[in-house]
Amino acid sequence: MQIKPTGSVAVVTGASRGIGRAIAVGLAEFGYDVAILDLGAQRKALEETAAEIRAAGRKAFIHELDVTSKPEIETTVAAILSEAGSIDVLVNNAGILKPSTLEDLSEKDWDAHFDVNAKGVLLMCQAALPHMRSKKSGRIINIASIAGRQGVATQGHYAATKSTVITLTRVLAQEVGMDGITVNAICPGIILTEMGKNNLGSDEAVRHWETVASLKRLGYPEDIIGPVRFFASNQSDFVTGQSLNVCGGIYFH
Ligand SMILES: NC(=O)c1ccc[n+]([C@@H]2O[C@H](COP(=O)([O-])OP(=O)(O)OC[C@H]3O[C@@H](n4cnc5c(N)ncnc54)[C@H](O)[C@@H]3O)[C@@H](O)[C@H]2O)c1
Repeated sequence: MQIKPTGSVAVVTGASRGIGRAIAVGLAEFGYDVAILDLGAQRKALEETAAEIRAAGRKAFIHELDVTSKPEIETTVAAILSEAGSIDVLVNNAGILKPSTLEDLSEKDWDAHFDVNAKGVLLMCQAALPHMRSKKSGRIINIASIAGRQGVATQGHYAATKSTVITLTRVLAQEVGMDGITVNAICPGIILTEMGKNNLGSDEAVRHWETVASLKRLGYPEDIIGPVRFFASNQSDFVTGQSLNVCGGIYFH
């Protein structure tokens, strides 16, 4: 069976750089027009992502959006449906990580991580689901993290948000499957993006994790494209509620 897209329009949050940009361009190369969403401060970077999508021969729709804002999400989803005609794939990728021990963590940073990484996913799903339900199809792909499975020192708050995303993925899959919608998650390992590099901090840490990884290297944003395409394709028609580790063999559960 040939791998094929399941529709024509994908939406990717946090698409200005890193994993989100790779996913947006990877879905364009797979055949999707892509609505790319990110904070207003990322406008210039969003335009670079859009140029790569257009170079792949697909349409790009740019929207400035904060995933913590329900009104902004509702306006943006309505605008995408009007300009692109459909939302077939939703990739919830926007996320933040500011390391801290749990003892030192401020209430403000706890709330900020839950607002972006967990509530943002929920609000985007809630906004896209009425359309997906009405057309009896849709693919939701949430970018979680292996941190959400294992828990990592200095990332307790971040890991808790990602555990929430894994649980939300399982539950939502059960609640929307009857309308032909699948919900799956990807748990990246250490990916060399701005977030990944800041988190590692030193060349020594990079070398340490390269040694730990079964594949003896860390990940690149492009390593996430294939798994996203799988969940956005006909090849995963019977897969839902699952979370797939994409980590080069750092974590196994
Ligand atoms: N890099 C890694 O090692 C790694 C590992 C596991 C999981 N992840 C997850 O992958 C996703 C992408 O991470 P990345 O490494 O590309 O990070 P990144 O920091 O390079 O990119 C994150 C993007 O999200 C956007 N964003 C942040 N807050 C937002 C908000 N409120 N509204 C809209 N957009 C917002 C940022 O502007 C940025 O474009 C995140 O969910 C992250 O938690 C990353």
